[in-house]
Amino acid sequence: MSDARVIEHLNGLLADAVIYYYKIHNYHWFVKGHRFKELHETFEGLYESAHQDLDDLAERVLTIGGKPLGTLAETLTHATIKEETQTRDAEEMIRLTLADLKTRVERIRAAADISDEQGDRGTTAMLEDLIQRIEKTSWMLESAFGTPS
Ligand SMILES: [Fe+2]
Repeated sequence: MSDARVIEHLNGLLADAVIYYYKIHNYHWFVKGHRFKELHETFEGLYESAHQDLDDLAERVLTIGGKPLGTLAETLTHATIKEETQTRDAEEMIRLTLADLKTRVERIRAAADISDEQGDRGTTAMLEDLIQRIEKTSWMLESAFGTPS
């Protein structure tokens, strides 16, 4: 139904969504400070929506006849999002989350260009919807917690 390049790109996006999903759990668990409750809940909302994204991406791969990445080991080799290995303060967590959302959107755009080129309208529509949702999330996160300019 679709070509191998689209599947490969979707698996890359899946890998990013999976690593981001766990990284945001890390922030949900370890955030500290006077805004704890607000940030703890915000990170929960973010990882819940990433869970939806990763499920949608994997199921799109299956829909077009591909095989989604099924192990964390494979996922790590396909991700551009880096796992969190340090202790961060709340401000850094927000900054890094915004940077990761930007990285995800850029990679989704590149994938949408490929699916569009291949005439795979279902994948393109799904990716455009995903771009729009992540852009909105970034705006909300920036508005609530970003560094005031
Ligand atoms: Fe929790």
